[in-house]
Amino acid sequence: MYENYYNLAIGPFNNTPNSRFFFETEQHREALAKLEYTVRNRRGFALITGEIGSGKTTLTRTLIRRLGSDARVALVNNTRVSSQQLLKLIATEFQIEMPPDPDKATLLSLIKKFVESQHAIGRTVVVVIDEGQCLSIDEFEELRLLTNLESETDKLVQLLILGQPELRATLKHPRLKPLIQRIVMYMHLQPMTFDDTTRYIAYRLVRASKGRPNVDFSREALQAIFEYSQGVPRVVNLVCDNALLVGYSCSTHLIDSAIIRRSISQMLPNFDGSLDDMFTESMLGEQEPDDGRRI
Ligand SMILES: Nc1ncnc2c1ncn2[C@@H]1O[C@H](COP(=O)(O)OP(=O)(O)O)[C@@H](O)[C@H]1O
Ligand SMILES: [Mg+2]
Repeated sequence: MYENYYNLAIGPFNNTPNSRFFFETEQHREALAKLEYTVRNRRGFALITGEIGSGKTTLTRTLIRRLGSDARVALVNNTRVSSQQLLKLIATEFQIEMPPDPDKATLLSLIKKFVESQHAIGRTVVVVIDEGQCLSIDEFEELRLLTNLESETDKLVQLLILGQPELRATLKHPRLKPLIQRIVMYMHLQPMTFDDTTRYIAYRLVRASKGRPNVDFSREALQAIFEYSQGVPRVVNLVCDNALLVGYSCSTHLIDSAIIRRSISQMLPNFDGSLDDMFTESMLGEQEPDDGRRI
């Protein structure tokens, strides 16, 4: 809606895990490098945790794009399933032909055959489980069977599990000790710092623009965005998207802290947390004067 007005080709703050918009904070860069190393060197099992909206899915999509045709990837997003359904989802992702109602043993043997055939032609097989915090102990044990597939030198299935922080508690279950011992790479994604958040916003605007974005954010606006979002990319996107809409409706190319405050207050119905949790006194109370300086 506001795209033309700000000289943008597409919406810069869409909340989709689009790898084209991947912005490398120091920790996102480190996580991506470690993941790529783990997968390409067939080390086996990597785990990434982080709060909702911290960038786990976006990171994985970027990894998958980088791997390109070197890898066959099964991407499982729906983890509220039985362990048999989980294996079926993986087999379906790999486009493995199956009998109508395969049992677990059949599924495992079909997946094994597929994995070995890919290994024979030099392709890496990757299983990505997103929203891993919804998996039960049984399903984790099933996944462990996949990590058992190995040649003399390599793990044949690269397993990447992503999940919210509570996943760490599930993984502490004694039955999962053998699985935990196989983790070769673990990272917890932290929210962005203020500087990262500022660069993130500028980066996404430039990526989405038709040359140069015709919009500026004042420093106070950036501070207000950071204070509200606490550096969580998903929330930064929501605030910025709304701020551009408010800015457009006010016919201004300068997004200042008043616009941010207005856009945040308009977002309230989207949230079910308590107001006290979301706003600090400084956000609703007395405001620092915004001198309109631009970044
Ligand atoms: N490194 C990043 N670069 C660009 N955008 C990001 C990045 N991390 C997160 N995002 C944005 O934030 C949104 C939420 O990230 P997502 O990967 O879905 O988080 P999670 O999977 O941890 O809940 C994404 O839709 C994406 O637009
Ligand atoms: Mg996600």
